[in-house]
Amino acid sequence: MNPVKVGICGLGTVGGGTFNVLKRNAAEIARRAGRGIEVVQIASRSAKPQYDTTGVALTSDPFDVVNNPEIDIVVELIGGYDLARELVMRAIENGKHVVTANKALIAVHGNEIFAHARSKGVMVAFEASVAGGIPVIKAIREGLSANRINWVAGIINGTGNFILSEMREKGRTFEDVLAEAQALGYAEADPTFDVEGIDAAHKLTILASIAFGIPLQFDKAFTEGITKLTIADVNYAEQLGYRIKHLGVARRTEQGIELRVHPTLIPEERLIANVNGVMNAVMVNGDAVGSTLYYGAGAGQEPTASAVVADLVDVVRVLTSDPQNRVPHLAFQPDSLSDLPI
Ligand code: HSE
Repeated sequence: MNPVKVGICGLGTVGGGTFNVLKRNAAEIARRAGRGIEVVQIASRSAKPQYDTTGVALTSDPFDVVNNPEIDIVVELIGGYDLARELVMRAIENGKHVVTANKALIAVHGNEIFAHARSKGVMVAFEASVAGGIPVIKAIREGLSANRINWVAGIINGTGNFILSEMREKGRTFEDVLAEAQALGYAEADPTFDVEGIDAAHKLTILASIAFGIPLQFDKAFTEGITKLTIADVNYAEQLGYRIKHLGVARRTEQGIELRVHPTLIPEERLIANVNGVMNAVMVNGDAVGSTLYYGAGAGQEPTASAVVADLVDVVRVLTSDPQNRVPHLAFQPDSLSDLPI
């Protein structure tokens, strides 16, 4: 069978990682997907000589990728709201499946994107949009599908957790650690998204939508970041036997689903208090399973690429399956849009 043809928009940290992982593990990925995956075109604003793109068509215009009739799946890794929205909507219009790591896009424009995808019969996959390499969307959607979810809570911004950890462990300043997080490719293009809690609110919005079957409602999330915290706060918390962690919490209440992100004092003996550096951890509580915990790298080149490529494999599996027995959209989207008040 011919390989599935993929176009990548964006060759930054995650785009480069995705390209490398697809090349390095091509045989294993093809075996798991049931078909080879070939990157035929990449859009990048600038030349990236560190990636060996021999045999791949390069362009500086991402619309060349979404309009390329040869391409079956578009991987959107440029980030941001407006251009990404336009690209993804055009890709869907052109009948292409989409894989994205863009949490801002999904949290803010996801309802519209999924409606368009349904109308065109294409898939939109976004595992990499939450908690980097941790397959937490899959865990909630598939692994916990028997459960009524009560709550989801966790550390879902790697940059923020890295900053708080380094402040506590090494007494480093906020600005110093943030600069390092940017250099390591953890931070968003606009790092205020990380430190003001916006990135975590995007991710929490997505998790809540999957967990509770509600529309994406980013504007309903209470959002507070870590910029008001000082080393003195971190040290006082430690003296009292606590760690300060920036948490996202979504939970069922009698009034509806509550969404909030903010710094939280956690007793130091708790597992989640000991999640340090760029690592993320997400707890999910369901009525049948009780509490579960998912842990791993929440940002970074290859951890995030791991989730992007896993989505590609899932999409290819569906494309390769018998159309008579295919599960429409593989439930990549919130499976029901009942509008629980928040
Ligand atoms: N800036 C994000 C973080 C990247 O630090 O968690 C991964 O979503």
